[in-house]
Amino acid sequence: MQPLDPETGRLALVSMLRERSPLGALKILYSRVGRFFQIPMPAFHPFVVGGPQSNRKVLVTERDKVKWRNADPVTDLLRHGVLVTDGEEHDHYRKLMEPPLHPSKLNNYVQSMLAHTDRVTSQWRDGQVVDILVESRKIALLIIMDTLFSVDVWDDLPRIWTPILKAINYISPGPWIIWRNIPRPGYKKYLKQLDDYLYEIISNRREDSPKPDLLQHLIDAGLDDNHIRDQMLTMLIAGHDTSTALLAWTFYLLGSHPQIHDRLVHELDESVGETPPSASAGWQPHLLDEIIKESLRLYPPIHIGNRMVAEDMEFDGNCVPAGERLFYSIYLTHRDAEHWENPHDFHPERFEHGRKQPPYAYVPFGGGPRGCIGAAFGQAEARLVIARLLQTFTFELVNKNVHAHMGATLEPRPGVMMRVSKRK
Ligand code: HEM
Repeated sequence: MQPLDPETGRLALVSMLRERSPLGALKILYSRVGRFFQIPMPAFHPFVVGGPQSNRKVLVTERDKVKWRNADPVTDLLRHGVLVTDGEEHDHYRKLMEPPLHPSKLNNYVQSMLAHTDRVTSQWRDGQVVDILVESRKIALLIIMDTLFSVDVWDDLPRIWTPILKAINYISPGPWIIWRNIPRPGYKKYLKQLDDYLYEIISNRREDSPKPDLLQHLIDAGLDDNHIRDQMLTMLIAGHDTSTALLAWTFYLLGSHPQIHDRLVHELDESVGETPPSASAGWQPHLLDEIIKESLRLYPPIHIGNRMVAEDMEFDGNCVPAGERLFYSIYLTHRDAEHWENPHDFHPERFEHGRKQPPYAYVPFGGGPRGCIGAAFGQAEARLVIARLLQTFTFELVNKNVHAHMGATLEPRPGVMMRVSKRK
């Protein structure tokens, strides 16, 4: 491992403290060392790459040289989930789960997405301050469980909320990164509660009549309960924690940019008025789509792709030897000054119709054969939920001092506190 020059080390430390996040340090390393560097920590020194060329290598052209499966808590939790398997096993699950998430199926989910949004906001009092991070999680959880497993978790939210947060915390970066065998008490009970909940759903369905959803696909394919649980937990975590972050960051950005917020409300009033938004091709809320894209650029919920290198790889003349950990950084790629003007600014117009970026310069959903299976679902959901919320409420940001926390996803901490007022 190359030692850092002292000035870069000093700047990285200052930036990390100022931003209250290691992302500050990574930005300094990227701008001063380049698109290839190694994190200089004694017991944890992954290689980090960014930029279109490296992303293309990791995701497409040399993807056979990297593996997903590793000894991290995420693999321990998700076991044989599609997210953490490789090779034929991965391809088998991927093929099985693609049909219910195909863009052509999204229209089936519109009513559920809108109804769950309204259900959560029906609890808000006019003028109340709510944490949009928490409210978004409720909405995203209700939607994912209803659309993919036909389960209404409204009454069960108090029962599953803490177990789900514990599961997310279990796979988030923490001291285990350095002290691999550090005991992690305090999780077992909650992870079992979550498992029990999922096994109960599977068992009920086996006795119930079939339903046209993802769970049924898994049952009909002959998977046993353990393998169904792995795919369900994968979709539950990957499919709601990301959407939660996207919704919360978007409202934070809108709250910090009132003029853009007002233009968006105007666009929605013009295009949908008081009727519920739809997923139809005829509805083209350009500014909303640009805002979602820009939110995903600045705060990609999955900010790095985590891989183990199985065969030596080369990036711009630098070697990453087999056996090492490699991160492709979505966050740093999205803030690369060579491809993005004023990369740290919120500027949705950069996605205006016709403006194009080089391939793999914008990768909020990863790419290649392991790109996000729920990309179309996640984008449709964000569009509908944001439109519905802005149609029914106005939002005023109360806490401007928000920083990006590196959890399982990139989260706005300490939350996005907003005063919500009913629109007349
Ligand atoms: C805003 C929403 C979302 C974002 C930003 C997002 C982002 C990503 C990214 C970047 C990857 C690739 C990770 C890598 O290369 O290491 C990924 C994979 C994945 N995502 Fe998403 N995701 C979102 C929504 C969803 C939804 C709604 C679902 C499920 C319904 C989902 C399920 C998955 C799964 C299962 C994978 C693994 C695919 C595979 O390995 O074949 N995601 N996601």
